[in-house]
Amino acid sequence: MPSIKVAILGFGTVGEGIFRILNERKDDIKQETGHTIDIVSILVRDTAKEYLATPGTKITNDIQEILSNPDIDVIFEAIVGEEPAYSYLREAIEKGCHVITANKTMFAKHGPALVKHAEAHGVQARYEATTAGGVPIIRTITGLLPADRVRRIRGILNGTSNFILTKMREEEIPFKAALHEAQQLGYAEADPSDDVSGMDAFRKLMILSALAFGRQPDWQDVPIVGIDGVTIEGVQDASKGRLHYRHVADISVDEDGVLRGSVGPVLIGADHPLYGVDGVDNAVIVDTDHLGSLTLIGPGAGMYPTGSAMVGDFLQIIGKRESIVVTG
Ligand code: NAP
Ligand code: HSE
Repeated sequence: MPSIKVAILGFGTVGEGIFRILNERKDDIKQETGHTIDIVSILVRDTAKEYLATPGTKITNDIQEILSNPDIDVIFEAIVGEEPAYSYLREAIEKGCHVITANKTMFAKHGPALVKHAEAHGVQARYEATTAGGVPIIRTITGLLPADRVRRIRGILNGTSNFILTKMREEEIPFKAALHEAQQLGYAEADPSDDVSGMDAFRKLMILSALAFGRQPDWQDVPIVGIDGVTIEGVQDASKGRLHYRHVADISVDEDGVLRGSVGPVLIGADHPLYGVDGVDNAVIVDTDHLGSLTLIGPGAGMYPTGSAMVGDFLQIIGKRESIVVTG
């Protein structure tokens, strides 16, 4: 079988995770699928920066080198912000490439249009890594939908916020120090105000809404509160009362079809399913008509969990069983 040629847009935490996992797994992938994987190019802004060595793979800052290469089959997108990511992926689709994205800022707004665009061009647009990091929530809801109806989705959708709240409670370190640690570990966004203001969790909630309900509520109607107002004194007081702060995003549909969403910190007790979800973990509770309630928990951010979600998408595209990569 011919080699599958791929390009990676972005070589930060996530892009590097994709590169490492594809290289670590290339022999297994060849054995399982018959395909060899050739990572042709990686796009960055600043080629003068020091990156992981990538023998045989060109690091470029010229998107046209990638988009005009007719041999590329699949593009992984892990850059930052709505644009130019959306335009790059539209163009890639028009050239016949499958696309896999981790970019929730872009996908919350343009996801449905991007998926339609891909369908119209006979390729796939996959987005598992946009929501809840390594937790396979997109695949799970997609699998439930033909036979069931989702009524409510709620959970912890921002790993950085959960990491900060956990550190403040367990180690009594101040907000800023905990945020700094999350940044060092590659959990936080390039602009971490998106994490702590609740915007990142809100965008993931909108991605889940589009998937589960086929639409999003009017964004203006969803109250969004971050963890930036939570103080260490507040966390300690809650602990004394055996309560934990959790940052929870919640969306449900009522009997009249009206969607109601909210994003913000809540205090919960030990009987709540989110009580024990600590650190960078995310958790998503899905309530449906037939299944009842299902909870998925796992790492919500970071190089390997996110890269693993994207490589899982890749393996689905190239026609092999989904593979959960457990590394590092
Ligand atoms: P990052 O560490 O800041 O890396 C971003 C990379 O993208 C860098 O290599 C940067 O180039 C490149 N880049 C940014 N804008 C670009 C542009 N306009 N043109 C070309 N290259 C560009 O970010 P990250 O944490 O890997 O996140 C990447 C994406 O994945 C974001 O959309 C983020 O929301 C999403 N995501 C992140 C995580 C996570 O755990 N970190 C999890 C899920 C999803 P330079 O190297 O030249 O700066
Ligand atoms: N900054 C995001 C988080 C990355 O902390 O959840 C994963 O989407």
